[in-house]
Amino acid sequence: MRSTPLTLLLSAFLCATGCSDGGGDGGGETGGAGTTGGTSGGTTGGTGGATGGTTGGTTGGTGGATGGTTGGTTGGTGGATSSSVGTGGGGTGGGGTGGGGAAVRTPAASAATMREAGEKANPPILIGAAISGSGLGDNNYKRVAAAEHNYVTAENEMKWDALEPNAGQFSWGAADNIVNWARDNNMKVKGHTLVWHNQLPGWANNLNGAAAVEQAIRRHIEGVMGHFKDRIKDWDVVNEAVLTDSDTGVGNPRMRPSVFQRALGERFLDLSFQIAREQDPTAKLYYNDYSIDALNDKADFVYEMIKGMVERGVPIDGVGFQMHIGPPNNKADGAAVAANLKRFSDLGLEVLISEMDINRCGGQVSAEEQLTFYHDIVEACFVLPKCVGITFWGINDGRSWLNGWSGALCNGQSSQSLLFNDQYQKKETYNRVLDALLGR
Ligand code: XIL
Repeated sequence: MRSTPLTLLLSAFLCATGCSDGGGDGGGETGGAGTTGGTSGGTTGGTGGATGGTTGGTTGGTGGATGGTTGGTTGGTGGATSSSVGTGGGGTGGGGTGGGGAAVRTPAASAATMREAGEKANPPILIGAAISGSGLGDNNYKRVAAAEHNYVTAENEMKWDALEPNAGQFSWGAADNIVNWARDNNMKVKGHTLVWHNQLPGWANNLNGAAAVEQAIRRHIEGVMGHFKDRIKDWDVVNEAVLTDSDTGVGNPRMRPSVFQRALGERFLDLSFQIAREQDPTAKLYYNDYSIDALNDKADFVYEMIKGMVERGVPIDGVGFQMHIGPPNNKADGAAVAANLKRFSDLGLEVLISEMDINRCGGQVSAEEQLTFYHDIVEACFVLPKCVGITFWGINDGRSWLNGWSGALCNGQSSQSLLFNDQYQKKETYNRVLDALLGR
């Protein structure tokens, strides 16, 4: 079943004159004028508050000067540069912290590829894929990857063991190949990943003591960000810092006792982001994790962790939700993902789907469910302007990492988890994703 993106259609129509910022102030039944606005929109919206607000009214109000954060039930909000009538949801409660950024994303009228749909959307959204060095040896892989995506994450080639196999000695070849290929195809790159407990070389995993671990983190981040400076502006700074029972579940979340956490405590998080920011004042710095896609105990824990970082002034720009759906991780439906992305973005952060695949092994996700999840989860990101990208973890089923990973329950079968089959033909999953990217 496809959901009807009514708000999207309405907003596309209503925002014809621009919906760059949130809008009107809160009010009573019919909204009210104001310079700073109230806290929530009235049922028929209100005139614009000077600083915008946080919550939309039912039918919108006129635009506020700097906008709020959330649209109302019927669409986006009018901002300083937008139309003067309540562009749906207008009436965004005034007096809030002001939103910035568009209140809605308008889909392209048509597009032949996901990449085109992403580039023509307003604001645009990045369409990414995990790219492997071995994949780039295959012409079909390269053709589909570049035609359909404009965002690249190296599947393994920028992990610590690949880039700094020996202490202080860096190895750039495999990563440079991917970055150069991306540049040749006008694709943006996200660096993945600076500080992670997995795919860590033995020497780093065996470090002891706060000083040694801090020094290693600093040298690694400085070395890697320095090498790619001007070529990579997006970074997964810390990956998977939170552990749960059985590791692939969501229960009993706590900080993972990695070499970083053991030596420095939770401080390693702040430290990593601070070092990254020193390296590049304009880079986008992300925290990335799995099984935090829906509303669950692990997502709640990570939400509090990230909120704490924001409140402490740690230089974090956003959160990546891996979105590995199906065994061994949790299921996540579109509504739960939408609510979860929204609460993180309300912290003033970007959000993105960073490693999406939906595993059919183990019989836990039916073919129909897989289609619904692909559509609805992509839609949940697409309708949120602060959701800046959707990356799929691979191109075609035959090369999916899930096929060979025991946790995925595939036992030699194909995970059937992606958008293209072994012959690089589009699957129905692709059609559902493209539908969502076009607001259908
Ligand atoms: C995976 C790769 O796809 C595999 O090839 C590799 O063997 C293990 O790592 N979370 C992450 C990714 O952040 O880096 C992982 O990638 C998948 C889970």
